Amino acid sequence: MTITEIKSTFDVEIDACASLSELQELKVKYLGKSGELTALLKSIKDLPPEERPTFGAKVNELRKQMEERFSAASETLKANELARRLAEERVDISLTTCTSRGALHPVTLIENQISELMIAMGFEVLCGPEIETDYYNFQALNIPYDHPARDMQDTFYITDNILLRTQTSAMQARLMQRKKPPIKVVCPGKVFRSDNDASHSPVFHQIEGLVVDKNVTLCDLKGTLEYLASNLFGPQTKVRFRPSFFPFTEPSVEVDLTCCNCGGKGCSLCKGTGWIEVLGAGMVHPLVLENCGIDSTKYSGYAFGIGMDRVAMIKYGIPDIRLLYENDQRFLKQFGR
Ligand code: PHE
Repeated sequence: MTITEIKSTFDVEIDACASLSELQELKVKYLGKSGELTALLKSIKDLPPEERPTFGAKVNELRKQMEERFSAASETLKANELARRLAEERVDISLTTCTSRGALHPVTLIENQISELMIAMGFEVLCGPEIETDYYNFQALNIPYDHPARDMQDTFYITDNILLRTQTSAMQARLMQRKKPPIKVVCPGKVFRSDNDASHSPVFHQIEGLVVDKNVTLCDLKGTLEYLASNLFGPQTKVRFRPSFFPFTEPSVEVDLTCCNCGGKGCSLCKGTGWIEVLGAGMVHPLVLENCGIDSTKYSGYAFGIGMDRVAMIKYGIPDIRLLYENDQRFLKQFGR
């Protein structure tokens, strides 16, 4: 090929290059060791000596032009490639793919609120096992085998000695065996009983409070619960203690709060009484302290167990406990936004 031929075919071919690899092939074809232009240079020796300098200069001029075209074409192809990938791999971050946001479960909300209030009063928050031994759930709490007090709770037994804990009180002996007084702890968690109706679920939630120290009295218990109640249900809330029985506390009390719905006048929520029962409590029985190696002549303590599902139901006006466990999104979506 002559210089002019090479020039015109090259012009057509380089314009047709659609990729960097095609461009590379073209470069080999013209400027490679056995390329067209290299062949022209080699043919110099066949020319008469006087024509060689002008011919050589022309070939070199063409080589320079070609190299410039190659680098320009390579830049353009790279830019096109980048633009193509940017367009193809574009992620539209403005698109909303998530149609609904999660919300905290009403019982979780109550657990968080109570825990925060207790932490503010200097309590630690600790969790214990849901599968428990008969010893911690009953015996250490002054409820021996075959004691009628076991009938208060319909238990799910796994073996004769292992069960699903029926109360967070199972944590009391665990805490007292492990820690020396002063003890000031709350333990939230799931508990299980073979019960199922509008106000009882086979799984529900309690938060246990335990304080053991010198000179702890029922007054301390009342003050703590009053602070808790007024922060949970409003400053006008009153706390009432009624005598009760639990094998592991003496004296034992059932604790009522003034109904947050009617303010104590009487309504359907409180069944006309003006009061709502939310927890059991009492002074830790001396035998329970002794079972855990704590000298009951030096130390005393109080304990309480709050039903958190019940608190959630009262606070949020939930009529049936089973709503808390059915996972109906329409129900759950209303809380914790
Ligand atoms: N564990 C008791 C219950 O589940 C409540 C309670 C806790 C009572 C602590 C006294 C002290 O009914």
